Amino acid sequence: MALRYDTPSLMRWNARAYDSSFGYVSAHGAPLIELLDPRPGERILDLGCGTGVLTADIAARGTTVMGMDGSAAMIEVAISQHPGLDFMVGEGANFGVSIPYDAVFSNAALHWMGRDPDSVIRCVRSALTPGGRFVAEMGGAGNCAALTSAMLTAWREYGLPEPELPWYFPSPAEYAVRLERCGFTVRLLEYFDRPTPLDECPNGAADWVRVFAGSLLEGVPPATVEPLLRRVNELAAPALRRESGWVADYVRLRFAAVLA
Ligand code: BEZ
Repeated sequence: MALRYDTPSLMRWNARAYDSSFGYVSAHGAPLIELLDPRPGERILDLGCGTGVLTADIAARGTTVMGMDGSAAMIEVAISQHPGLDFMVGEGANFGVSIPYDAVFSNAALHWMGRDPDSVIRCVRSALTPGGRFVAEMGGAGNCAALTSAMLTAWREYGLPEPELPWYFPSPAEYAVRLERCGFTVRLLEYFDRPTPLDECPNGAADWVRVFAGSLLEGVPPATVEPLLRRVNELAAPALRRESGWVADYVRLRFAAVLA
């Protein structure tokens, strides 16, 4: 088992809470693995592997997989839950590999690497063999629009500075251009709504904010956090609360590209 510590992540995750409450993030990864079509003996890099659930599924296809994530907390959990697999801490916009991979796979992670998306794509390119595949799914333009709109309104109503949302949700056209400029041929690009039940979120949007936007709450006075999140729920409920429960307004961008 390999563990390497690179640049520390800016996002602090509660990895176990993420795993138990937001297992759907990995559960939705199965179709993406089918698109990746991992073949026995291939070397695959799982970029933004989180707690390693999909890394293990890819390894089970007879591949050699390396799981990489910017969060040391996620990698610690991945190592403890998947002994025998290889994981390392590394930043998507700043990593290199000594032996190239046949494919780079990434589920629900590239939208956390929006500060410099071209550097991420360049790192992926340099990690691949000629003809290597880059298969990924991320939030696309308009992802979580109702959730983020409720957040921005609530922050404003409480007189808080506008939060800088830490995600990157590109349009299909924008991301395709970035991939092509970097030498990839885009073979498949899908852009679709994927309403996502927040089954594990009894407190709806407020729970989602705590896990996925926890860093934004660090700047909020402690006494304001609860009423602020209650207000996020009030504002988001008309769009996202159904009789069956809360449903997040996810929009996905899924692609398969090959290195020319
Ligand atoms: C997503 O998977 O689309 C997502 C996750 C967390 C924050 C924002 C978006």
